[in-house]
Amino acid sequence: QTDIPSIKDVITEFPVGASITGAEIVTEHGQLLNKHFDLVTPGNALKWDATEPTENTFTYTQADPLVAWAKANGKAVRGHTFVWHNQTPAWVFVGADGQPMTATAEDKALLLSRLENHIRNVGAKYGTTIPVWDVVNEVIDENQSDGLRRSNWFNIAGLDYIRTAFRVAREVLPTAKLYINDYNTNVPAKRDKLFNLVTQLKAEGVPIDGVGHQVHINVSWPTLSESKAMIDKFVPLGIDQQVTEMDVSIYTNSGENFPTPPADRLRQQAFMYRDMFALFRQYPGEITAVIVWGLADDNTWLDTFPVTRKDAPLLFDTRLQAKDAYWGVVDPSKIG
Ligand code: G3I
Repeated sequence: QTDIPSIKDVITEFPVGASITGAEIVTEHGQLLNKHFDLVTPGNALKWDATEPTENTFTYTQADPLVAWAKANGKAVRGHTFVWHNQTPAWVFVGADGQPMTATAEDKALLLSRLENHIRNVGAKYGTTIPVWDVVNEVIDENQSDGLRRSNWFNIAGLDYIRTAFRVAREVLPTAKLYINDYNTNVPAKRDKLFNLVTQLKAEGVPIDGVGHQVHINVSWPTLSESKAMIDKFVPLGIDQQVTEMDVSIYTNSGENFPTPPADRLRQQAFMYRDMFALFRQYPGEITAVIVWGLADDNTWLDTFPVTRKDAPLLFDTRLQAKDAYWGVVDPSKIG
């Protein structure tokens, strides 16, 4: 489809990006990405298990080709992610005694030194080539009264893992925009816990520059007013906001399973993309990028969570053709 408008030419308020894998850039996906998007986020290639699989041995075999491709094609790169509770090798949480770490001073010090070493190395490797990083990912659990996820990170180091991560990231990347990233930030309880944490940390002087809203949503959830509240909440903090991992599942509950995407769901999906992009475009000063979590429906994480059903959450279909969802972003009058 060479005849359709480029998304990045239509959306001028902020850069529009997509997450990619190394396998994709060398195929037709790379051309699609090149045509429609301003920036790329490696979907897995910069995570801890990919970059430091064993202690102090750094490998960039996944990330290097993606970053090189981005450079060659004039795309910005968004870094994802220094600290997460998933895709982190087991050794990170094993103490000097070979036992699982606990909240002792010794284990905490070792964990924070590993964290510092990781960010120093991966951060320095790409330097200003990656000007935006998710420093911490998914640290909020709104069901905890303090709002903090009980991950290994938290259980061993308390809030200090977040403080350390941002401090070190700022030291090694003084000009990068440093983000705290999370999902379901449209849910009031979660949004408020995230807001409280960012407010507290900023008051302490922790260098947080931005809040990332993942925006993994579906065709009938959330409401537009909930999404608006998600953004409005953070405006008074004077920080940047990015939509970091958007996709719109065709499923509205775990019991559904369609052999092929129903037409009415694809229409609903197009309206959701339309409404969300229209909303984001109302915040040209606050929202500094919108990224979709994948290029086309042939490769989406939603097909693996769970593996038992096929989803279709993106702007292009499994044959890489523009969906109504694409028109929802580019020209809603053309939704079929
Ligand atoms: O690389 C291995 C491969 O060697 C192995 O044969 C294969 C068999 O399962 O697994 C491959 O690893 C998979 C990896 O993606 C790379 O494809 C993992 O199993 C799989 O769990 C992993 O899924 C990723 C997921 O994060 C892990 O939590 C998704 O691709 C990735 O899109 C997803 O992204 C997350 C964001 O980072 C944070 N927010 C939520 C978002 C969606 O879950």
